[in-house]
Amino acid sequence: MSVWALLMAAGSGERMGLGRNKVLADLCGKPVLLRSAEAFETAVDGMVVVVQPRDEAEARALLPAARFAHGSATRQQSVLAGLRALPEDADVVLVHDAARPLVSREVIRRCIAAVRAHGSGVASVPVKDTIKRCAPDGTVLETPPRAALRAAQTPQAFHPAQLRRAIEALEAQGVQATDDAAAMEAAGHPVFLVEGDPRNLKLTTPEDMTMAAALAGQEEGSMRVGHGYDAHRLTEGRALVLCGVEIPHEKGLLGHSDADVALHALMDALLGAASMGDIGRRFPDSQEQYRGISSVTLLETVAAELAQAGYTVENVDVTILAQRPKLQPYMAEMTARTAQALGICPRRVSVKATTTEGMGFEGAGEGISAHAVALLRTGG
Ligand code: CTP
Ligand code: MG
Repeated sequence: MSVWALLMAAGSGERMGLGRNKVLADLCGKPVLLRSAEAFETAVDGMVVVVQPRDEAEARALLPAARFAHGSATRQQSVLAGLRALPEDADVVLVHDAARPLVSREVIRRCIAAVRAHGSGVASVPVKDTIKRCAPDGTVLETPPRAALRAAQTPQAFHPAQLRRAIEALEAQGVQATDDAAAMEAAGHPVFLVEGDPRNLKLTTPEDMTMAAALAGQEEGSMRVGHGYDAHRLTEGRALVLCGVEIPHEKGLLGHSDADVALHALMDALLGAASMGDIGRRFPDSQEQYRGISSVTLLETVAAELAQAGYTVENVDVTILAQRPKLQPYMAEMTARTAQALGICPRRVSVKATTTEGMGFEGAGEGISAHAVALLRTGG
């Protein structure tokens, strides 16, 4: 058996109102399409992603290992295009709306088990609201008994050849079904429902995005703490730069970059919190491009990479150990500079300094060291 996922991403997300396809939007720091694809990764032998040509490059960059097909005007036609792009040996297809990024592995597993046992497996949930069938003017025509009603979700698993013939038959009649199960029903195939998940929302309107973000945040949202430490030697003929601010002093810190010891400790704390290595690894001394570079620029790079990885900075705290010069007059500017580079509010940044009462290398004025802690938030 070769099991394939068909990820439907060829809509335009009109009702979401983002001005672009909603499946390429971020949900808690990760694109919706990528979240949907990741849910299937371990369950399938391959994936066909159906996209509009205008979204193809962006989607391919997210999912380099997937096959791609071009969608059409209606979802049904897009599904057909995707089915035609499946390999010959695919004997199970899981059609899934990429706009359902919170699908669980358990629901996917149930769909696959059902298609093997019963020939189809469609995720569905009991209906919570009482459903009314009504006339266009709003007059209620009928209230079907709720206990017998289910809301169909995706994934919907079928044998690809059967689904393809069922959809081709509907297309020939000019009928558009709103889900794939309906095409199978119209072709006379029994459709088997499996338990879906109320959290498996289809992102349709902006409030769905808010709810999905809360759910994703609940599952993944966590705080991560990191610590950083650095020390540099004081020497004549160098500028003293701390937290991006040049401080008048007869000596400055020695280093390959501007030797901003405070920001170095801070970057290590941030990278540490994200388990993304350290600055030595990210910006090696051996590379000429980092000679004399402003550590503010490096911090901006780290901040962008953290954001890319889905982290937001909750707060940071930096302690500078220096016997001299007195840093208090520059503290507000150092804090503002650091916050600006991180792209966060200064209230989330603390910079402080202490002497070591003459003890150690800081006390002797041989060097300055700094400690930093950073707290990152993931998810919601
Ligand atoms: N879809 C598709 N091809 C279409 C229409 C929809 O592949 N011609 C996909 C969408 O990308 C989405 C899923 O089918 O993942 C469900 O459709 P829907 O929620 O209606 O998404 P959109 O059509 O993008 O949104 P809207 O109807 O608001 O424009
Ligand atoms: Mg649509």
